[in-house]
Amino acid sequence: MNNFDNLDNRNKRIEIVYETGEDVLSEAETLEAAAAEKVAALYRRDMPFTGWVDWANRFPEDALEDILKTADEIAARCKYFVVIGIGGSYLGAKAALSFIDRADSVRADGRPEVVFAGFNLSGTYHANLIDKIKDEDICLLIISKSGGTLEPSVAFLTLKKLLTEKYGHAEALSRIYAVTDAESGKLRTEAQANGYKAFVLPSDIGGRFSVLTPVGLLPLAAAGVDVRAILAGARSAGADDILASAKRLACVRTALEKQKSVETFCFFDPSVEDFTAWLLQLFGESEGKGGRGVLPVGVGVSRDLHSLGQFFQDGKQIFYETLLFVTEPTRDVKIGGEDAGDYAGRAYSEFNRAVLEGMAKAHRAVSVPIIRVYIPDNSAYSFGQLVYFFELTCAATGLLMGVNPFDQPGVEAYKKGMLDYLAGQ
Ligand code: PA5
Repeated sequence: MNNFDNLDNRNKRIEIVYETGEDVLSEAETLEAAAAEKVAALYRRDMPFTGWVDWANRFPEDALEDILKTADEIAARCKYFVVIGIGGSYLGAKAALSFIDRADSVRADGRPEVVFAGFNLSGTYHANLIDKIKDEDICLLIISKSGGTLEPSVAFLTLKKLLTEKYGHAEALSRIYAVTDAESGKLRTEAQANGYKAFVLPSDIGGRFSVLTPVGLLPLAAAGVDVRAILAGARSAGADDILASAKRLACVRTALEKQKSVETFCFFDPSVEDFTAWLLQLFGESEGKGGRGVLPVGVGVSRDLHSLGQFFQDGKQIFYETLLFVTEPTRDVKIGGEDAGDYAGRAYSEFNRAVLEGMAKAHRAVSVPIIRVYIPDNSAYSFGQLVYFFELTCAATGLLMGVNPFDQPGVEAYKKGMLDYLAGQ
């Protein structure tokens, strides 16, 4: 069972620093009362799809025990645990696996490698995946709230066939796990008919707000991640000071939305890249509707400063920047060697701080609004805190902008176009 002690993380807090200009900050101040009302409304949970609010405090212990027990069973049965899903059904687990420091809160011994499928329709990707996993023991986890999304459905068909050929019908079925709605959808019907071990994604929690449910926690627990620490971190983000910080960020983002069209989420550590992809879904799908919202874009630092950096400095000023910086990196390397000169003895973390400060200075000079998000470390606890902090920020910003943060009509439109094409229309 996963039960790590992360008490040393319990006082750590995300910190936000604004370099956005006085006009933005005073506009944000005028929104504070409205933001407080929106967050209070979220906590009343009387609007649709707010089941994720305060979820970490309400997660039933028996459901968590079931996840942990099943995760141990999966770990004992396979080398590859294939998680099939798209959007909110896979990005959260992927983000956590990249973000969380293996030494701090991951019990890796004897745990399977989690691999992902069903988030694209590339034959090359899936053929390579099959080549990688086919000679080893495999279990599948199909995650779909609706139960009918094309990309995961096609991957599920493909991988079920592989499983049946490898293990025979009965054992193949026993190696399939599912997360879906409690009652509705094709996947729930199939799980009942075939006896898959199936977990519930509560009907009032949408895909992109589901990482703290079995959607994220089952794959993470199977990989050996301390999911109790993730939930503890999420609970900490409901504390007054962090909640106040989320409200303020929602106000500043709402004020910035009036001036800018793009928000660049800049990550300074590859461990934050998949988390950034999760943020892009959260903000893009929740806020981009009715002609509102800013386009969220992911930027890898230093990599993209050598390409997009030219545009940031000198191009059309349509964007603001959110800098995602891990304050206490897990590992470090000191520079040495005979020719190290002035760099001798200095660590990568110092150079990474230099690129943060150098970039901020250069961009301040051309009046780019900057929001710094200091992430304490790469622990499971910090991950949970970040997730709930940004979920609240996003929902509050959407409500302040006057959009419904919990639907995704634009996504449905492309799905219909694809199905029409396949039907020859
Ligand atoms: O946030 C959402 O609801 C969506 O992005 C879904 O997660 C995504 O479309 C996948 O849908 P489903 O889980 O129904 O297959």
